[in-house]
Amino acid sequence: MTLNCTFIDHGQGGSPDCMKIATRPMESPQGRQVLIEVAYAGVNRPDVLQRAGSYPPPPGASPYLGLEVSGHIIAVGPEVQDRKVGDTVCALTPGGGYAQYCLADERHCLPIPKGLDLLQAAAIPENYFTVWTNVFERAALKPGERFLVHGGSSGIGLTAIQLAHAFGSTVWTTVGNTDKAQACKQAGADHTILYREQDFEQIVSEATKRQGVDVILDMVGGDYINKNLRSLAVNGRLVQIAFLEGSKSQIDALPIMIKRLSFTGSTLRPRSDEDKGKIAQALVSQVIPLMEKGQCLPLIHEVFDLKDAAAAHALMESSKHIGKIMLKVKG
Ligand SMILES: NC(=O)c1ccc[n+]([C@@H]2O[C@H](COP(=O)([O-])OP(=O)(O)OC[C@H]3O[C@@H](n4cnc5c(N)ncnc54)[C@H](OP(=O)(O)O)[C@@H]3O)[C@@H](O)[C@H]2O)c1
Repeated sequence: MTLNCTFIDHGQGGSPDCMKIATRPMESPQGRQVLIEVAYAGVNRPDVLQRAGSYPPPPGASPYLGLEVSGHIIAVGPEVQDRKVGDTVCALTPGGGYAQYCLADERHCLPIPKGLDLLQAAAIPENYFTVWTNVFERAALKPGERFLVHGGSSGIGLTAIQLAHAFGSTVWTTVGNTDKAQACKQAGADHTILYREQDFEQIVSEATKRQGVDVILDMVGGDYINKNLRSLAVNGRLVQIAFLEGSKSQIDALPIMIKRLSFTGSTLRPRSDEDKGKIAQALVSQVIPLMEKGQCLPLIHEVFDLKDAAAAHALMESSKHIGKIMLKVKG
């Protein structure tokens, strides 16, 4: 039986109002895929960039919007081993999460942490997969090290602050205003920097007695690249996950050699199913237990109905939010 699926169609892309509710026939799950009846979907900056036309989905990914959902599994593919119809999960999706039904690989599903509801659970996958793999795997942040994350009030930023704090780092973050600074402090940031008025490089240098921080997670790029390299300690690691201010900059690479720095980065969506499965396993063993003790929980800013996805995107583009913007599909 073919299911008809209500979803957000962004057509040829453009401004937020290009997004309209539409209906399409839903594919059946293949291989290790599960079909999820979606309760909530998370809104992420990569969705905004995809809708606007500057972040096309990688080959093989769903062309539709939505990288994370929570809900109930209603069908499984022929090779599924560990999930069954009726399971409640949250999942990283290859796209298509702004919809009544969504396909996900069974390896990219997480159990709903005890004590969390489906709304909170839908806010987990994209941010926690991204922060875990970049901060704790690529940059290998260790307890006791100093950590700086830019854009602290973003979904990614608040996740990074909470996890770095929980794993024993001293945390610096940059934010656009004092309300955002307050939220970051509550999440565990030791130092907040109002980047519109203060120079993060100077503040980090003074606070660390010119030693610098061990790891920086950056989504800004542009002029920040040189400042980040200068703000790192010997053997420091800079991880780039986006370029909100552009990827082209005149870089002075001398600090990389002098301080033996590593400059890396990654994007989650094109990673292999196997890689994403390994990140999911790490989250189950390292992060979900913290959540079940009430730590490192996603912070929800506002929930919109699926049909109001355009308003959700407009809010994200305004950057007035603190934490996650969510879509209610079937609450
Ligand atoms: N590589 C990956 O795999 C991956 C995966 C997911 C997300 N991302 C990227 O991670 C970033 C955050 O994603 P999100 O979904 O959490 O988005 P979001 O909530 O919209 O966060 C973006 C934040 O960036 C801050 N910002 C903008 N310019 C800044 C600057 N010059 N200095 C410091 N902060 C600045 C804004 O806060 P202020 O008001 O404080 O400026 C805004 O809240 C996005 O760029 C997204 O594309 C990458």
